Amino acid sequence: MDHFEYRDGQLYCEGVSADRIVQEVGTPVYVYSKATLLHHFGQIVEAFAPLDATVCYAVKTNGNLHICRVLAEAGAGFDVVSGGEIHRALAAGGDPARIVFAGVGKSDREIAEAIEAGVGLFNVESEPELENIDRIAGRMGRPARGALRVNPDVDPRTHTYITTGKKETKFGVDIERAMAIFRAHARRLGNRAAAPDRPGLHLRGIHLHIGSQITTVQPYVDATAKTLALIDGLRGEGFAIDSLDLGGGFGINYQAEEALPASAFAEALVPMLRGRGLRITLEPGRFIAGNAGVMLTQVQYVKSGGDRRFVIVDAAMNDLIRPMLYGAFHFIWPTRVKASFVPPAVRTEAANLPGLSAVDVVGPICESGDFFAKDRPLPPVARGDRLAIFSAGAYGFAMASQYNARPRPPEVLVDGEGYRIIRRRESYDDLIAHERD
Ligand SMILES: Cc1ncc(COP(=O)(O)O)c(C=O)c1O
Repeated sequence: MDHFEYRDGQLYCEGVSADRIVQEVGTPVYVYSKATLLHHFGQIVEAFAPLDATVCYAVKTNGNLHICRVLAEAGAGFDVVSGGEIHRALAAGGDPARIVFAGVGKSDREIAEAIEAGVGLFNVESEPELENIDRIAGRMGRPARGALRVNPDVDPRTHTYITTGKKETKFGVDIERAMAIFRAHARRLGNRAAAPDRPGLHLRGIHLHIGSQITTVQPYVDATAKTLALIDGLRGEGFAIDSLDLGGGFGINYQAEEALPASAFAEALVPMLRGRGLRITLEPGRFIAGNAGVMLTQVQYVKSGGDRRFVIVDAAMNDLIRPMLYGAFHFIWPTRVKASFVPPAVRTEAANLPGLSAVDVVGPICESGDFFAKDRPLPPVARGDRLAIFSAGAYGFAMASQYNARPRPPEVLVDGEGYRIIRRRESYDDLIAHERD
């Protein structure tokens, strides 16, 4: 459920019309709903409450400071993958002890900064990284907690670019090798391993993240079963494993009602995990932010080319790259429509309304890949009309660039009847601000 709906033919985000925001802030613009963010966050917390799970919002999804602050105030921890994301999470008021740090290429500087900040957990992705964190923490005279990221070799049945838990991906270590890695780490440390305050890395947990936009429960069940068997084996050999981080990946509705509620994942996973003596962490991103945001854009021109009609808008692939990068579907609809074009639901049901015609919705950038939709049934639109590109709250602005010297769009957070600009529109001067002539 999200707080975007049509009232009297006009798109509203909570109590604020899209047109009001466009008039006051311009286009393109990202618009987020605070109530939706909190609703989705709350759904996960509630579903996994029997495990008292720590929900760490994946900052990469949408790292806007204000969004992170809203979630921190609601009790979220943070999942980060770079020094910059640690900086963001802390600047947003995040509790360092509730930050988990993943990524296959953590630099020495990032590792040292994370230790300095008191980051709660390193999700360790390889043996050389394990040794490196141990060395840096040792040199700094600080203990650090680690979880080994394992690759359980399950297929989450999602886009190849966001599949991360199969054997051939670069993430984590093959689950079959995990035991040997724990043994080697313990051998290296000898009897120092047991000292709780020993400066260095304390490997006490297992981490997984099998992919993103996952819309079935089974891959999680399979991955969790394999991981629990590993944990039993490790404990059997005397390793004190006290935590399991299951990653993120819960899918959302882009095109239809394709996603599952958080409770569906919890119903399968809670019985497997309860009473195991494991602190459980989750790292959802898209589930929280994806359908909490839209991008509003204005039609510049409508033109024909061959047998196609092009609706050229003022947003482009630099603002939202998902259609180009993943062939991703985003529901698109005018922000103001006559009664017969009010979509029965914000997504594909709208495609069956009478009177629609197929168009390509494209941006102004000099690349054929600069499109938001192809052959998409839309109500008639003309120059000046505004369109909403839905489900843009996750991996939208976060992946935006200034390609073609286009200033990045502003971000607006709606809260009830009001809104605030939580990132201003970039200016032409911003484009050259870091360059030296
Ligand atoms: C380690 C890790 N955790 C969490 C996430 C968040 O995934 P999602 O947005 O699908 O929940 C990602 C995304 O790539 C990730 O790499």
